[in-house]
Amino acid sequence: MSYVTVTDLHKTYAGFPILERVNLSVEKGTFVSIVGASGCGKSTFLRLLLAQERPTRGEITIDGQPPALEPNRDRGIVFQRYSVFGHMTVRENLIAAEALGATVWGVLPSRARRKAAEDVADAALERIGLAHMGKAYPASLSGGMQQRLAIAQSLIAKPRILLLDEPFGALDPGTRASMHDFLLEIKAEWDMTVFMVTHDLSEGFKLGDRVLVFDKVRWDPHEPHAYGATVTYDFDARNGGIPFQSLSIETVEEITV
Ligand SMILES: Nc1ncnc2c1ncn2[C@@H]1O[C@H](COP(=O)(O)OP(=O)(O)OP(=O)(O)O)[C@@H](O)[C@H]1O
Ligand SMILES: [Mg+2]
Repeated sequence: MSYVTVTDLHKTYAGFPILERVNLSVEKGTFVSIVGASGCGKSTFLRLLLAQERPTRGEITIDGQPPALEPNRDRGIVFQRYSVFGHMTVRENLIAAEALGATVWGVLPSRARRKAAEDVADAALERIGLAHMGKAYPASLSGGMQQRLAIAQSLIAKPRILLLDEPFGALDPGTRASMHDFLLEIKAEWDMTVFMVTHDLSEGFKLGDRVLVFDKVRWDPHEPHAYGATVTYDFDARNGGIPFQSLSIETVEEITV
C-alpha cells in the first residue's frame, strides 16, 4: 500500500516551473534515492515533502494525510548544510534528539528517562566515532564530524520519514561506508521510509531500494527555464537496476505536445 503518494505535483518559483507532473507512490519502509542535475529541483522536492513549501499544483499525502505544517516527529531531515544546536555540546545534541523521538516520554520517572536518553546518546557517539568529542561544542568539530553528528541526531530521533539531502558529501570513503551501515541498521530497526538526494549514483544504488532520476522531458534551447523536471526514471535497485517504471515514449510525446 502506498505510504507517501505524490499526485500531479507542480512547483513554480516566480513564474519559472521547477517541478512538473511528478507522480509517485512509495511504500512504507522503502529507501528512495534521488539523483539529478544540479538545480533540477531535488532539494525543492524534499522541502515539499517536509511541508516547508506548498505545491503550486497537485498533492502530497503521507499515510493518507497532507504533510503536517508544524515540524513533528514524523519527518527528520539532514540538509545539504547540516545543522546542529550550536549552544549545546555534542552529547547534549544527541540527548535532545533522543528525547524528541522517545515514545515513552512521561511514562518513566524523569531520572530513568534521562539515563535512557544518555545511554542512547553515548551508544550513538561510539557508533559515529565521536566518543572523545562528547563535551565539545559543534563549532569546534570538523565539517565531516558535524555532518556525522547531524546524521546521528536525525537517526536517533526515529522519524517515520527521514529526508536526507546529500548527507555524506563531506566524508572520507571509510567514514562514509561506516555511516552507510549505521543508517541502514537504524532504518531497518525502525522501519523508516527514507528519501535521500545524492550526486553519487553508486551510493544511490547501494543504499536505495529505488533510484529516481529527476530530469526535464521538455527542453527549449531558447527558453531553458520554460519547463520543470519530473521523475524520468524509477529504477528497482534491488533487482539489478532494472527500471520498473520509466516514462514511455508515448508519455513523453503526450507531455511534449
Ligand atoms: N525559495 C526559492 N525561490 C526562488 N527560486 C528557488 C527557491 N528555491 C529554489 N529555487 C530555484 O529552484 C531551482 C531548483 O533548486 P533546488 O535547490 O531544488 O535544486 P537541486 O536539484 O537541489 O540542486 P543541487 O543539486 O545543486 O542541490 C533552482 O533553479 C533554484 O534557483
Ligand atoms: Mg539541492
